[in-house]
Amino acid sequence: MSPKSFSQAAQADSVDRIIDYHVKTKHHFNRYARSLGYLDWANQPDPFRRFEGTQLISLPLLSPDEEPLSPTYQAIYERGTVLCQPLQLTTLSRFFEFALALSAWKKAGESEWALRSNPSSGNLHPTEGYVVLPQVDGLELNPGLYHYAPKEHGLERRAEFPAELVAQLLVSFPSHAFLFGLTSVHWREAWKYGERAFRYCNHDVGHAIGAARVAAATLGWNMTLLDGVAQNTVAMLLGTDRKQDFGEAEPEHSDCLVVVWPTQAVKGQKLGVKDDIDIKEIPLALESAIVKELAGGAWYGKANRLSDEHGVHWEIIDEAAEASWKTESCRSTVPLSLLSNNASHPVPFTPHGPSAGQIIRQRRSAVAFDAKTSISAAMFFHMMQRVMPQAERPQLERPMPWDVWPYDPTIHLLIFVHRVDGLTPGLYVLMRDRRRVSFIQQTMNPELSWTIAPDCPDGLPLYWLLEGDAKKLAAQVSCHQDIAGDSAFSFGMLAEFEGTLRDRGPWWYPRMFWEAGLLGQILYLEAEAAGVRATGIGCFFDDPVHEIVGIQSLAVQSLYHFTIGGPVEDRRLQTLPPYHHRSRA
Ligand SMILES: Cc1cc2nc3c(=O)[nH]c(=O)nc-3n(C[C@H](O)[C@H](O)[C@H](O)COP(=O)(O)O)c2cc1C
Repeated sequence: MSPKSFSQAAQADSVDRIIDYHVKTKHHFNRYARSLGYLDWANQPDPFRRFEGTQLISLPLLSPDEEPLSPTYQAIYERGTVLCQPLQLTTLSRFFEFALALSAWKKAGESEWALRSNPSSGNLHPTEGYVVLPQVDGLELNPGLYHYAPKEHGLERRAEFPAELVAQLLVSFPSHAFLFGLTSVHWREAWKYGERAFRYCNHDVGHAIGAARVAAATLGWNMTLLDGVAQNTVAMLLGTDRKQDFGEAEPEHSDCLVVVWPTQAVKGQKLGVKDDIDIKEIPLALESAIVKELAGGAWYGKANRLSDEHGVHWEIIDEAAEASWKTESCRSTVPLSLLSNNASHPVPFTPHGPSAGQIIRQRRSAVAFDAKTSISAAMFFHMMQRVMPQAERPQLERPMPWDVWPYDPTIHLLIFVHRVDGLTPGLYVLMRDRRRVSFIQQTMNPELSWTIAPDCPDGLPLYWLLEGDAKKLAAQVSCHQDIAGDSAFSFGMLAEFEGTLRDRGPWWYPRMFWEAGLLGQILYLEAEAAGVRATGIGCFFDDPVHEIVGIQSLAVQSLYHFTIGGPVEDRRLQTLPPYHHRSRA
């Protein structure tokens, strides 16, 4: 066999293995995906990873009215309206606050648990965050790799990197660019959800990417996924391959890196060695030889063990992680648009509407819906428009947050409309890439109507499929959860599944879940801004969802469900401020 056909055969084998994982972890009406079946409370994983022996640098706890002030929620979606902030400790603090920090503590009787800016399946929070920082005047942090500790709102210094070497690594990016990385502790989700947990960890990565993109937008910063980097390189840079630092502790699976950069040179902050005018494109990869050299430096800390014992180890998760590991790097670049680099009319604080910070802080999952609140068709259409990536544009000219995503969409929405004033209840499809209409149509029952929804804004590819009351059906296929039927609308996220994996490779499996999580994150915030509330739904019966519209093959698969409506508060719970345990510096 030639080397090429050998690697093609290996890829086909990995695709088969990841599809096998997907099929085996489906929930069926008569059988859920394998899990322990009960909660082993004695070994509940610690939601907070720490690296013992590292220096913890506290990030300042900022009140909403301290600098940097948050722009309005509306402004973050209007390119060029948010004042670009310099990279310093306070802005980095805001970035982490809005991306991954604690947002509240909830208390019921003796138990207390923290919520965060990013949601997580079962509130188990498998996602860990890192930053690679260059030398920046006024930042007060040495160049290196830092792990974010959400409970302390601090950065643990994992590695010291020579300033010149980090500068070399980041030389092709605009000045003051830094890297943000995400990893997952699969065990945290597997403890409760067993074999399906790899899916949930990846949903959570998508949510975290979305939360970070929005956080960056509040500071006038840009961001893109560096998806040309091979996963071994991500692991090397984030130190997750350092077995000596993990020992008996639960490993972290390196997921992805993104690059974040200020959209314009910031007054008062000296630019680096390069002139940003020369930067016309953003590479989506890193020089692995430099990463290797950086990884050879001084490292600090040993990971804490999160559970004393692991009742069962779910091998299938390791197999899925291995099959979908991105082994190759790819040297692609994206043009740096003038639009993305120019905050021409900065409006740091406009008086209209809630601030982005307020919406981010108040984001919560609804635990129940009132089965009566309806939303207007205008509000519904607005939400649908928000998740349209405008794929016909170059990546960095797409609307936030879709400028972070270096791909055309693979996810479309199958919507159960229950209570939208002016819209007939029933089933609808939002095609996030209109070029894919006939493909999706062919996978479904040919008798579906596929007419443009009445009064739909021009250019929004929202199709009406079937009229009817789908409240019971939506709840039934969502593991009998009433939240899917008591809301204003709920939906399944349909991925172009098998073809994507076979064409692009098995590493696309996690990416489809990231795309779904990113989309969910935006709608969590949109729901808050509209005065309603959302909840992600990871538990649904896979094939019964497909059967509703006659999907019979793996060409299209629903990967994540979501619901939005009028919430019912659980008044038994007490809410405490996020950092009441940390005295203000
Ligand atoms: C990927 C994902 C799947 C979820 N699945 C469900 C679900 O099936 N049912 C549910 O009631 N909540 C679900 N949630 C909501 C979580 O329970 C919630 O995010 C978590 O408890 C944290 O609360 P918060 O979102 O208010 O911060 C899901 C959230 C995510 C991110």
